[in-house]
Amino acid sequence: NIKSLQDIAKIFSENQVKNVVVVAGAGISTPSGIPDFRTPGTGLYDNLQQYQIPYPEAIFDIDYFHRNPKPFFTLAKELFPSLGNYRPNYIHYFVRILHEKGMLLRMYTQNIDGLERLAGIPPSKLVEAHGTFATATCILCGHKCDGDDIKDRILDDKLPKCKKTSCPGMVKPDIVFFGEDLPRKFYYHLKDMLQADIILIMGTSLEVQPFAGIIDSVRWQVPRILFNRDIVGPFRHQRRSKDVVAEGDILETMQKFVDMIGWKEEIKELIVKSE
Ligand code: OAD
Repeated sequence: NIKSLQDIAKIFSENQVKNVVVVAGAGISTPSGIPDFRTPGTGLYDNLQQYQIPYPEAIFDIDYFHRNPKPFFTLAKELFPSLGNYRPNYIHYFVRILHEKGMLLRMYTQNIDGLERLAGIPPSKLVEAHGTFATATCILCGHKCDGDDIKDRILDDKLPKCKKTSCPGMVKPDIVFFGEDLPRKFYYHLKDMLQADIILIMGTSLEVQPFAGIIDSVRWQVPRILFNRDIVGPFRHQRRSKDVVAEGDILETMQKFVDMIGWKEEIKELIVKSE
């Protein structure tokens, strides 16, 4: 009988949960200092004036990129994960603890900040559905390279060039742009949704498909918990009987939840050790 966060906490502390699927978005990284996309005022899409692009999403639009890649690379300079500008936060470490306890079936993230990897969530447990800066591909010949191979050129405000001597192509980090397909790994793992005991949805507006749709493919008796500032997606108008909303600042609600399940000290220790 699942109705509230307390009910969810109870099944966690009674070890009734085995296969947790985490579905995450930019809201889990705002406590690390990275703005999300759509929060009015602070979100990235409201703060792209200096890029002089025709509409905010153009920065991640593949057709626009082919015409004018500069705005994306200027942003990439800021976001490049291996620069160490940003560190994982409490939410990332909560997911890491789920993994340590053998409860994490998979984490699906839309984020491209690489903080999940930095928090020690192993790649096999991660589906970076909107891609990663960790690898990059030549848009002309398809030659693959390490993200770090193109870092220096991005930092020098130069377009990254293909390393193959005969190829004049430009290299693009393996970020999924609007107009591009999601990585194969995303589709490959979708069967996870049938094995999940519980879905934790964190810090996402659930605006972008096909990612947002995955939460509807779980069985009806699987509890879905939304940790978010706003009530979004099916939690607004198409709630299921076991849907629970933990509304508000994710750091506060997650800390409350961690208190309820008695993992407070463990997470504190992990953060001290890792940071
Ligand atoms: P959005 O910016 O669309 O949504 C972030 C959600 O997190 C919003 O509902 C916020 O209210 C919430 N939020 C932010 N900070 C929070 C906090 N401290 N506590 C609680 N909630 C908070 O970001 P995404 O859903 O991740 O695509 O956006 C999906 C995709 O759209 C992104 O992956 C990106 C973008 O175009 C690419 O990068 C390719």
